[in-house]
Amino acid sequence: MSTPEILYQEACEALKYADAPYSGLKVGVAVLTERGKVYRGCNFENPSLMMSLCAEKVAVLKALSEGEKEIKALMIVSSDGDYCPPCGSCRQFILEYTPNAEVYLGSKKGIKKYTIKELLPHAFKRR
Ligand code: THU
Repeated sequence: MSTPEILYQEACEALKYADAPYSGLKVGVAVLTERGKVYRGCNFENPSLMMSLCAEKVAVLKALSEGEKEIKALMIVSSDGDYCPPCGSCRQFILEYTPNAEVYLGSKKGIKKYTIKELLPHAFKRR
């Protein structure tokens, strides 16, 4: 299996644990680090809606909080069968911590590949 195919499977696993009772949209993410480890994340919604957490942030923070320094790639899948491009907030978040990340969007239709720089051109950056 290719790396994107493995990440697709891992992200689909993560999707199972998503808690999205309000939007109904479950999102799963798998992050591949430079050391070759995979971390998974999914979205969590809260009755206080502003507190909801996107899957990308959960997965990236799981990796970083385990001491990972560099993320090579992340795969995003969702429960509605369509591609799920990361929201603006997650793009900014991913770029801050993983400026060279490849971002894969997976669905039953196939896998699309982007870089975070393509998804967030002219980004605001840390001074
Ligand atoms: N969501 C993510 O997990 N990642 C994104 O990049 C876009 C949105 C989640 C948040 C919320 O739980 C649901 O999808 C609907 O917006």
